[in-house]
Amino acid sequence: MSIIFNEKTQAFCLSTPNTTYAMAITNDGSVLRHLYWGSKIRKIDSLNDFTQDVLSSFAATDAALDGETSSENLLHECACMGGCDMSTPAFNAICDGFHMLVAPKVKSWEIIQGKPKLCDLPQTYIENDDEATTLEVTIEDESGIRIILSYTVYENIDAIVRHAVIRNVSDRPFVLKSALSASVDFDDRDFELLHLDGAWARERHIGRTPLMNGVQTVGSRRGASGHLHNPFIALVRPTTTETSGECYGFNLVYSGNFVAGCDLSSLTGRLRTFIGINPDGFEWHLNPGESFTTPEAVMVYSAKGLTDMSQTYHELYRTRLCRGKWRDSVRPVLINNWEATYFNFNEDKILDIAKQAKDLGVELMVLDDGWFGKRDNDDCSLGDWFEHKDKLPNGIEALASKVVDMGLKFGLWFEPEMISPDSELHRAHPDWHIHIPGRTASVSRKQWILDLSRKEVQDYVIDAVAHILKKADISYVKWDMNRNMSEIGSAALAPERMGEFCHRYILGVYRIMDELVTAFPDVLFEGCSGGGGRFDPGILYYMPQYWTSDDSDAVERLKIQYGTSIAYPTITMGAHVSAVPNHQVHRTTPLKMRGDVAMMGQFGYELAPATLSDEEKAEVKEQIIFYKKIREVVQFGKMYRLKSPFEGNISAWDFVSEDKNTVVLCIYNVLGYAAPKAEWIRLCGLDPNADYKVDGTDVVYGGDVLMNSGVKRRYDHDFVSEIIVLKKV
Ligand code: DGJ
Repeated sequence: MSIIFNEKTQAFCLSTPNTTYAMAITNDGSVLRHLYWGSKIRKIDSLNDFTQDVLSSFAATDAALDGETSSENLLHECACMGGCDMSTPAFNAICDGFHMLVAPKVKSWEIIQGKPKLCDLPQTYIENDDEATTLEVTIEDESGIRIILSYTVYENIDAIVRHAVIRNVSDRPFVLKSALSASVDFDDRDFELLHLDGAWARERHIGRTPLMNGVQTVGSRRGASGHLHNPFIALVRPTTTETSGECYGFNLVYSGNFVAGCDLSSLTGRLRTFIGINPDGFEWHLNPGESFTTPEAVMVYSAKGLTDMSQTYHELYRTRLCRGKWRDSVRPVLINNWEATYFNFNEDKILDIAKQAKDLGVELMVLDDGWFGKRDNDDCSLGDWFEHKDKLPNGIEALASKVVDMGLKFGLWFEPEMISPDSELHRAHPDWHIHIPGRTASVSRKQWILDLSRKEVQDYVIDAVAHILKKADISYVKWDMNRNMSEIGSAALAPERMGEFCHRYILGVYRIMDELVTAFPDVLFEGCSGGGGRFDPGILYYMPQYWTSDDSDAVERLKIQYGTSIAYPTITMGAHVSAVPNHQVHRTTPLKMRGDVAMMGQFGYELAPATLSDEEKAEVKEQIIFYKKIREVVQFGKMYRLKSPFEGNISAWDFVSEDKNTVVLCIYNVLGYAAPKAEWIRLCGLDPNADYKVDGTDVVYGGDVLMNSGVKRRYDHDFVSEIIVLKKV
């Protein structure tokens, strides 16, 4: 049992292989207090002694407590608004105009072997009950608002997964204003806040900022997790590096509006860290007997630095978040026509790309935007999921079967959540888009978003996509989503329920995705949102890979992919070689470097093979042969970040197979310098007692030498890259 309750101390001890999370019920049975989260502790009995409560001046003493204690001084597991705790609440509910979570008390608790399933939401999972243990603590305010806090600890993975259920057990309706997935209070503020932010084509750059007194958050009000911030934060010590130091990661399994951040009280010094659905613009009505379930938050502690924390996320997401046939299958090398043709293609052009790509060793041909309705540019036709007959007179079936006959798989792009004002769908259903009735809805990329809070609209999308997938031999779907929400509203939702819209939309998206991935279990789905605009664990539950960014420049991608790897495994990251000058930043990098960067992901091409010279074609052939040799290690091995592209010219990482027999070392130099100084790259994850031979040579290094001394590099020119394969001898 990884969760133990001590009757005497009223403390819960939650254990993962290397970590302990502890909390206790206060003597009068009212508050669930946070005690500890960190490296594994043998016995938590003495932890209570370490926590002392003082009453800060200006903190109100809780009427519901002993008359001497203020909620503001306690470390809470269930942070509520209404009583004497005035920091950012995880939970806030209004009843008859009052913030009613005044004095919630622990009612009961249950330890469950396994992990109960959440309804309608993406989630981490188990395959056997002995993989995890779950604690559910029921907390209730006398107003009849019940909160069930759920904590799952994995037996073999250092992750704690939390969510909450809020239930109305009163006889009056109330409105939920805030329902976060997790908050953790620390009596410690020696941290920095690490976050992943960016913009379109610059996703998930690593930011690290000192904590300040007050509230610091990242988040989204865009209706999607978005390009600007990922639903991931970590508290790290100022001295934490990739290989040493403490870090506490928080990641939300959700694709909509979110908030994640810290509230450091200058009154008490207490630091509250929190993550969940963004309360801005959110409310949820709960009638008597109704419940609301928050998304899951995945919390990971490591005392061994950022790489160790990331590896825990990678393992959990690769094996217990991603699902289906593709979870454990080697992913195909693909070619996508988008940057080769944009909207300007026909059947012959696509078949020509496919034929040449097949000769180069590509395994999957993906037809991107422009195959449907009258779509010759991005002005129209989203929602009209039938073939553009001028471009594809023989339809998708014929095209797919011609591609399949060449020995390739065929994949297709959809943007199912959208509707163009100029579309047959809009003419037939003028109120199916998100809008405020009576107001003109703004466009972005000349499109609107479908009102997926409505079941009939969800059903339309499911049927439209399923119709195409059924009739043609399609092995892969790219699921795009190219705008965020404005003028949020629905023609079908009661006006007082409009605060529920954004979450209802996301639940609609999840239902559609679930139906389709269940109906087409052999299809590989790749998520996309103008590149990596909704790259989050919510989508990964349905789609095991994601188009990481629209920016495919090799230099830019170093940062984007490195930053993404903080939380997400390599196997989830789509990465393609595109033409030069690059279409996003106009930089020209060598084909070798473009290939070597894209090989740190789901490798593919996004260019017209016909534009390649014979030498380049030969190089591409070699790249594909090489990637096929290393892809098992890259996709399923452990990734170690060795040198950060955010810190210098040289960046590096290695991938190590589970048995440590094969190592793939990747090194990249952006700019060269005259008279360059030597830099050492120390490998990680090898067997120190084994020798490793550089593949294709007779050179042998000790694993200990590679890890402690490293390999030396000195680059005097721009855009150099190397991928070195080492095999245990
Ligand atoms: C945005 C995607 O990120 C691109 O890869 C491409 O599919 C375009 N949309 C097509 O409109």
